[in-house]
Amino acid sequence: MKLIIGNWKMNGNLDEKNFLFKDLSNTKTKNKIIMCLPFTLIGGENFGITLGAQDVSNHENGAYTGDISATMLKDAGVQYVLCGHSERRLHHNETNEMVKEKATTAIKNGIIPVICVGETMEEKNAGHTIAVIKKMLSESIPENGEYIIAYEPRWAIGSGVTPTNSEIVLAVKIIFDTLPNSMPILYGGSINATNAKEIASIPYVDGLLIGSASLKSETFLPIIKTLD
Ligand code: 13P
Repeated sequence: MKLIIGNWKMNGNLDEKNFLFKDLSNTKTKNKIIMCLPFTLIGGENFGITLGAQDVSNHENGAYTGDISATMLKDAGVQYVLCGHSERRLHHNETNEMVKEKATTAIKNGIIPVICVGETMEEKNAGHTIAVIKKMLSESIPENGEYIIAYEPRWAIGSGVTPTNSEIVLAVKIIFDTLPNSMPILYGGSINATNAKEIASIPYVDGLLIGSASLKSETFLPIIKTLD
């Protein structure tokens, strides 16, 4: 059984959600599918699909205009939440410390955080991949509770380029060895129906975090099928 998490980012509308979710609900698979939707699409009819969000506030409640709390997500039926996706770190200046607070708040409210880590191309070229991953992990994983780690090299996101299998195994083995307890580890970045099976079969990879290919049945269902 592999974990397959779709991340719609800031894409999609209600019709597109209904279309994909109906198809997903009719798809028999031994894998676990989780869909991380934009906040506005989380409510309503979900056809039995497991829901995730793409971000959560590091605060419990209060005067934080525009933010969404873990209790609100829980109330809306959300079971998983991405924390520290590289696009949040890049565009919203999220630090490891904030990511840890977000993940801790999620856990406290019964939501499993999916903590994202990964190096930039500059860091990779400088030979810093392992050091960057270790630092991100040591500063952003919560003290207690259950969580998932997603290894998403920034340069592999939306680029059509993936690391080699040996680069992935090196990174995920470091993650596996660094975590105090055994937690699921995902790979994310330019996954499609052609590379999904091979990457999901790499040792220590428990599943995939998928961006653009999760938006439509035509690209997402073949990935699910290839992992069955
Ligand atoms: P792509 O699959 O579009 O490269 O995005 C990966 C990602 O950022 C998932 O969180």
